[in-house]
Amino acid sequence: RQAGRLAGKSFLVTAGPTHEPLDPVRYLANRSSGRQGYALAESLADLGADVTLVSGPTGLRAPAGVTVSFCETARQMRDLALNAVQAHRFDAAICTAAVADWRPAVMQDQKIKKTGRDDQPAPLALIPNPDILAELSELSPFRPSLVVGFAAETEKVEAHARAKLERKGCNWIVANDVGAGSDVMGGPDNQVILMTQDTVEHWPRLSKEEVARRLAMTLADWFSKAN
Ligand code: C5P
Repeated sequence: RQAGRLAGKSFLVTAGPTHEPLDPVRYLANRSSGRQGYALAESLADLGADVTLVSGPTGLRAPAGVTVSFCETARQMRDLALNAVQAHRFDAAICTAAVADWRPAVMQDQKIKKTGRDDQPAPLALIPNPDILAELSELSPFRPSLVVGFAAETEKVEAHARAKLERKGCNWIVANDVGAGSDVMGGPDNQVILMTQDTVEHWPRLSKEEVARRLAMTLADWFSKAN
């Protein structure tokens, strides 16, 4: 009954962390497992959508029926996402990836050596990465009709999510509390707030697979009203 609800609709999903190299053997990363994004890609495909998943490094198996491109860094993820959008107009883009906000200013060609000075901090300068969600939200002329961001917050979740919605120019934000003790980042469950321009829905704590199914159904409802 629900199986073809998203037939004919195409989705771009970003997922996972990014790895930002410092030198040939070290990188900066975060605790994202990619599980929420992979589950969402699978749920969208289950409803008949055409899904392209752009994934950072994860230990997950690619969902059946989904086209996956892999990358490591935020800049690679941006290029894959933007190229995919130009090549293939998407109806929606869902940015679940935990993209590193900063990367090392310099990627050293050789392994960085210790200075031998225990009293000195390491000389580690960081520069900002491109914001993929903001770029997709501002895209012209290929902006997807619906651009959805995720917002992992450790405090004031609703206020920060509202500010993010405005700042990034996306249509919806799925916000979650990843504060200490929540076990959300990298864990099996998620508890989210779905925020649109004029609505806020608090969902109960659910498995990431169940959050994905509900979100896919919510997207199908939105597309059936929009058309
Ligand atoms: O600003 P913040 O990182 O909290 O925003 C989270 C949202 O923005 C997520 O949807 C994430 O995928 C997206 N994002 C992005 N590129 C970045 C940083 C965040 O697409 N460089």
